[in-house]
Amino acid sequence: MSTLKNDLLLRALRGEIVERPPVWMMRQAGRYLPDYLKLKAKYDFFARVQTPELATAITLQPVDQVGVDAAIIFSDILVIPQAMGVEVLMEEGKGPSLPKIIQTQQDIDALITEGAEESLKYVYDALSLTKKELNGRVPLIGFAGAPWTILCYMVEGKGSKTWDKAKQFAYTQPALAHQLLQKITNITIQYLKLQAKAGADTVQVFDSWAGSLSPADFKTYAQPYLIQIADALKDDVPVILFPKGSWYALKDLSESSAAGLGIDWCVSPQMARELTGNKITLQGNFDPSMLLAPIPDIKKAVTEMIDAFGTQRYIANLGHGITPNVPVDHARAFVDAVKEYRPR
Ligand code: CP3
Repeated sequence: MSTLKNDLLLRALRGEIVERPPVWMMRQAGRYLPDYLKLKAKYDFFARVQTPELATAITLQPVDQVGVDAAIIFSDILVIPQAMGVEVLMEEGKGPSLPKIIQTQQDIDALITEGAEESLKYVYDALSLTKKELNGRVPLIGFAGAPWTILCYMVEGKGSKTWDKAKQFAYTQPALAHQLLQKITNITIQYLKLQAKAGADTVQVFDSWAGSLSPADFKTYAQPYLIQIADALKDDVPVILFPKGSWYALKDLSESSAAGLGIDWCVSPQMARELTGNKITLQGNFDPSMLLAPIPDIKKAVTEMIDAFGTQRYIANLGHGITPNVPVDHARAFVDAVKEYRPR
């Protein structure tokens, strides 16, 4: 029995009947909210992530101020490399950087693996505190980066448009790439299980850079590890996989243990439904830049999106993270449009 007052997200993930689709926005915590920017001016990034009281306050902001149907814990996917002993710096305006990149067998052997997830206690504490503060208002989402996306940062050392160095590593040293992917996968599974234990009602796995891979390479370097994670968590919490850009994998992933699949705006709702045979809950796929359009246009596009997906087995969301320049009333218009939706 759920003690949640609003469990639309969990019911949609289970494929149960809902009165209306639930709505939340990727990267809703942080980035665009003025109250977040105030905390950002006072505390550096990892202080915000590692102090449960701050992480909780940031996590609750979009629930209180924008009215989303779920909270996503304020943290980052790069806490996994940190737990493995890799230094991660977050430079203002530049994004993440990892000064010591992974290149050799020795680099991989030196990574902390056994019990690495135990050093992330601050995440579990933040989840427990947030769960308490939410007091059943909406479900709480935990998350991690997918193994391929984490490998991208560990090998490349910073963001990239092409991820050519990460791919070069995979193409020239495939055995090492698989060792690294497996180590990341093992820790991620333990990490997500502990998130579930600490109060996460569902978890999302962000494969933000999956779309840098061809369909064949996705099958080699991304899919097996996503499937391992979904399988390992299936008795703990529903898992949402978000393989950004990899529309070609939707059919295979719809047959996995995942409860939901996130999709970006480069695949039409009709095509995503066809590829997944209506077997799985789909989440997405509003172009985040469309939130910069006039409010009436946002509302019209949301209505068309829900018309196309249908109201069942569907979670309204963006197709990737909200960008920092979105006005708060535009974010709210997106959420309100989902709540006001009536079938035509
Ligand atoms: O949904 C949420 O808002 C929860 C918090 C969250 C953050 N990062 C906080 C953050 C989540 C879910 C993430 C995931 C994340 N982090 C991803 C996957 C999602 C995606 O957008 O593809 C990736 C690729 C990262 C790595 C990362 N962290 C980058 C590329 C950057 C810099 C640019 C940016 O804003 O995305 C970060 C820093 C970061 N993580 C910020 C926030 C709010 C911005 C820095 C700041 O506000 O000081």
